[in-house]
Amino acid sequence: MTATDIAMKHAWTQVAAEAARLHNTHLSQLFATDPVRVQSLTFDAPHLKADFSKQRLDKAALATIATLASAAQFDEWRAKLFAGDIVNTTEGRAAKHWLVRAKSPPAEVQNVRDRMAAFAQRIRPEINAIVHLGIGGSDLGPRLVIDALKPLRIQGIEVRFAANVDGADVADAIEGLDPKRTLLIVVSKTFTTQETLANAEFVRAWGPAYLAGATAAPEKAVAWGVPAENVFEFWDWVGGRYSLWSSVSLVCAVALQEGAFDRLLNGAAEMDNHFRDAPFAKNLPAISAAIQMWNREALGHRTYAAIPYAERLRLLPGWLQQLEMESNGKGVTRNGVALERAASAVTWGAAGTNAQHSFFQQLHQGVDEVPVEFIVNAGPQEGPPSHRAKVFANALAQARALMVGKSAAQAKAEMIAKGASQAEAAQLAPHRGFTGNRASTMMALDALSPEALGALLAFYEHRTFAQAVLAGINPFDQWGVELGKEMANALLAALEGGNPPADIDPSTAAWLRQLRT
Ligand code: F6P
Repeated sequence: MTATDIAMKHAWTQVAAEAARLHNTHLSQLFATDPVRVQSLTFDAPHLKADFSKQRLDKAALATIATLASAAQFDEWRAKLFAGDIVNTTEGRAAKHWLVRAKSPPAEVQNVRDRMAAFAQRIRPEINAIVHLGIGGSDLGPRLVIDALKPLRIQGIEVRFAANVDGADVADAIEGLDPKRTLLIVVSKTFTTQETLANAEFVRAWGPAYLAGATAAPEKAVAWGVPAENVFEFWDWVGGRYSLWSSVSLVCAVALQEGAFDRLLNGAAEMDNHFRDAPFAKNLPAISAAIQMWNREALGHRTYAAIPYAERLRLLPGWLQQLEMESNGKGVTRNGVALERAASAVTWGAAGTNAQHSFFQQLHQGVDEVPVEFIVNAGPQEGPPSHRAKVFANALAQARALMVGKSAAQAKAEMIAKGASQAEAAQLAPHRGFTGNRASTMMALDALSPEALGALLAFYEHRTFAQAVLAGINPFDQWGVELGKEMANALLAALEGGNPPADIDPSTAAWLRQLRT
């Protein structure tokens, strides 16, 4: 055992003892015994505030969880990240997504930014539509930003995305557009991704007048047919799911008003400074990572739901899913040793209030507790002014209902007060009771500005990294997606008339026979 292993084992023993201490404590009780609980469990970072007081922990537990960070050498790993050291050890790469959004970036980064801005200015008058093709990290980030910052979109430029290799997606993406006034942007870090290239071939054949590419393999983009002057490079030290700050978001530079993309980068850079400089005890991404770890590994909640109470953030859960699960959905430590504890929860979610009318039933009364992360926009909102209070009322009500619940006895008394018979009330009470005592976090953006959005997304990136450090894994590779890709290539050949692989299993073979056209 290494010194780190021994320190981690010791820290986990203490964390487990804290979990046992709090196991049977009702969340409401934690408030009763600490009058300053809300203040002491609320943390600020640029553009973002998070209240963890409805989580099952107290200051003492949080201090104990913090010992995991020192045992895992959090400060050292954070320093390595920002020094540009090789933190992605299996691929021998640095992870410098923070450098792409730096206020004073190196010349190669500034050069691409300047070229993007110049291209945007030049192309805008020529086009009335953009088709962005990419998948995973080459799709989810820019798609989210374009949706979230809709009020800052340039009028008269329609933006379409397609990612899926189901042809319906790309067919929808070009439907009704005029190729003579359309810019096709092909985004692929590797420029080898099957889905993106298949979609790109199809749209290129449709004849868009303008073609651009964003990639870390510029020679491949040029060989494919993107004019060299329209190829916008990013670098292998920017991971795909951390790449929205780069030329991957060319669509944002073109379709958002002048300066909006820079403001997004600036907000992210503010969060970078916070994460890099704040000590653990005041560091929002790090504390939030530790609480995720606590919920998952100390309290046993293997999944959580991210619920933005903001329609403009409806695509956040999808982006977050790739970020967290592709980064930390790993089974071994940096040294290749099987993990004793998961490095990542199962992330999912949808926008509130819609989600209340679908899966919140299970969050309130289902057998398993699922911690919820609420995200509200505390700044100005669009649309009818009277809607604003309603959004907040719902978000706060859900968090409060999860926590306080309602006993069956109380449910029964309420029914009787409303005129139900004793027998009827007794029969319905178990169905109408809520255990409560379910944890949540309430987070608020100061506005839905480009800066705040940048800060929020950078917060999640750093939280993901901090969780990886606590678990001792490399969050920057994704070997787990390769096997399926290899098999898909072999099966494609079989579906197109070739022989199935020699070691094919009977189930897949039967499906091949059935689906072969
Ligand atoms: O599916 C895995 C993955 O490699 C992601 O990590 C990446 O974001 C996506 O595919 C797209 O890759 P590329 O940008 O190279 O087309």
